[in-house]
This record gives sequence, C-alpha cells and structure tokens, in this order.
Amino acid sequence: MTQKIGILTSGGDCPGLNACIRAVVRTALAHHLEVIGFRHGYEGLMKGEAVRLGSSSVSGVINRGGTFLRTARSEKFETSAGIQKASRTLARMKLKGLIVIGGNGSLQGAWELSKKTRTAIVGIPKSIDNDVGGTDFTIGFDTAVNTAVEVIDRIRDTATSHDRLFLVETMGRNRGFLALATALAGGAEGVLLPEIETDLDHLSQKLEKGKKRGKSSSIIVVAEGDTAGGAFKIAAKLRKKLKNYDMKVSVIGHQQRGGAPSAFDRILASQFGAAAVEALLRGEQNTMTAIRRSEIVTVPLDFSWKIKKPLDASLLRLAEILSR
Ligand code: F6P
Repeated sequence: MTQKIGILTSGGDCPGLNACIRAVVRTALAHHLEVIGFRHGYEGLMKGEAVRLGSSSVSGVINRGGTFLRTARSEKFETSAGIQKASRTLARMKLKGLIVIGGNGSLQGAWELSKKTRTAIVGIPKSIDNDVGGTDFTIGFDTAVNTAVEVIDRIRDTATSHDRLFLVETMGRNRGFLALATALAGGAEGVLLPEIETDLDHLSQKLEKGKKRGKSSSIIVVAEGDTAGGAFKIAAKLRKKLKNYDMKVSVIGHQQRGGAPSAFDRILASQFGAAAVEALLRGEQNTMTAIRRSEIVTVPLDFSWKIKKPLDASLLRLAEILSR
C-alpha cells in the first residue's frame, strides 16, 4: 500500500509557501509517497478538509506569493478538543507523516499535536519576522526585506525632494530582524527595535547633529514592536522635541507579506520542502528543517519557540556606524 503524508500551511502567509509545498509534493512523489494537502491550516486538519496533491497541482506556483492551500490562525486548534479532532483526522487518514509549514506559534501547535498522535511530525519554519529559533532564516524573510527596502528607496525620493524626516514602520511583531535588515540595506539614518529601549533623546540629538552637517532629510526605520509603541506614537513625541522638521509617518504593513518570492526564498523553500520529506523517510519525528551557516539540517522541533534567537550584534553595530 502506498504510504501517505500530509502537509499544511498555518499562521500568517508569506512569500515562498507555494514553492515549499511544490518541493514537498514533488520530492514525496519521487519517493512514491502520496501527498494530502489540508486546506486552511489546522482548521482544515480538524475538519478533514483534504485534497490529494499531484505533480500538476503544484505547476506554476513557484513564483506565486501566499499559499494555494490557504492558511489560518486557529484558536480552536489551541484547545485540547481541537488537538483531539486533528489527531483523529490523522489516524482516520492513516498518515505516515505530517509536514507543518508555520511560524513559532504553529510549530508549537505541531509539538502539542505530536503528543496525541502516532503520525510523525516535521516542521518547516516560515515567517517574514525571521523569529523562529534554531534556524538562521525562515521562508519569507528575504522577500519581505527586499519589499521593505524597495519602499524605503521610493520614500527616500520624497524625503530628499521635500527635505523631510520619515518614520517608516515595518512589521516583525515583537522582534527586530526585519527592521534591522531593512534599515541596513535601505541606508536608514536610524532604526528603533523591540530588543533595545527606544531613546528618543539620543535619536533627536543624532538628527540635529546630522542637520548641522547639512543633512536635509532622514529616514528612521521603526519596528512595529519597538518599546515606544510604533511610528505614530514616536512621531508625536518627536514633534515636541524637534520643532523645525517636516515629519511624516509611513506604515508599510501587509505589503511586506505579499508578492512573488525572491530567488533566495524560492531556493530555501525548495530545500526545506525536500529536507522535510527526507526527514520523514529517515523516520524522524518532532524535528524541524533549518538552515545554519548555509547548511540545511534538521533540529528538534521545540527549538522553534524555546530558543530566543538574538539579533546579530555585528549587524547592529554596522547599522549604527553607517548611519552616522
Ligand atoms: O508574523 C507575521 C506578521 O506579519 C507580523 O509581522 C505581524 O505582526 C502579524 O503577522 C500581523 O498579523 P495579521 O495579518 O494577522 O494581522
């Protein structure tokens, strides 16, 4: 009898999910496994909303953002009744393994589910926030940084032309990976991150110094989770300290989640998809694919939420030096 594996995408969408599903499907088929896709993440798993995925189901998807399987943030799945329901679907469908493509919340959910099922579970980390522990990069991060940098480049045209100060807010939830990378690549004059107490006096002094040197416009990248409460609140406070500035706020928002994945994300997603299937074939359970120093490996699934990945201190220093 052909063995079956399941796959689902859970949590916020991001670029590269389709490329990852494609890699899972085609690698599994190459190993004569049948693939079942669950729609709308854990919601579909609980309801048994399943579709069989063949090679042509993943034709023409590598370049598409979002997830054709759909996704959801499921509160029901977080209850023990929800987990029981999901594990009943896995048993009824006699799945050898389940691949969960998710962020740290969804991967923690996969860990909880693993305690109630015989089906082996392997996670694949995705998130524009890059906040999953145990892996240097998550699927979607690179594209989101590129999108945000493109926005900064456009805003800089206006900032320069009008001699303005722009506060540009990125996503990232309560971590600053996306904001830091965007600030560095966008040549921002400053960056405010959740990991570092926001010091508006320091920022004001830095901007004033720049002005004295002849700088007529600036861009400050603000992570949505910064300690002062986001770009609008910061602007309100800065307006009291800096009188002669034409200050504007721009929140990039969900644009960072959509769009065609970058080549880096397509390749990472393909590598993770193939590695997850191979991990199941080796008999692994409760592991997660990861990239560490450019090498594709698997790590324990609970690293995803138990390990709090630090910001790269050398990137932080570099952003500070280059923004002076
Ligand atoms: O985790 C990805 C993310 O885009 C965060 O950066 C952001 O805080 C959150 O999801 C937004 O979620 P939603 O789309 O549910 O509003």
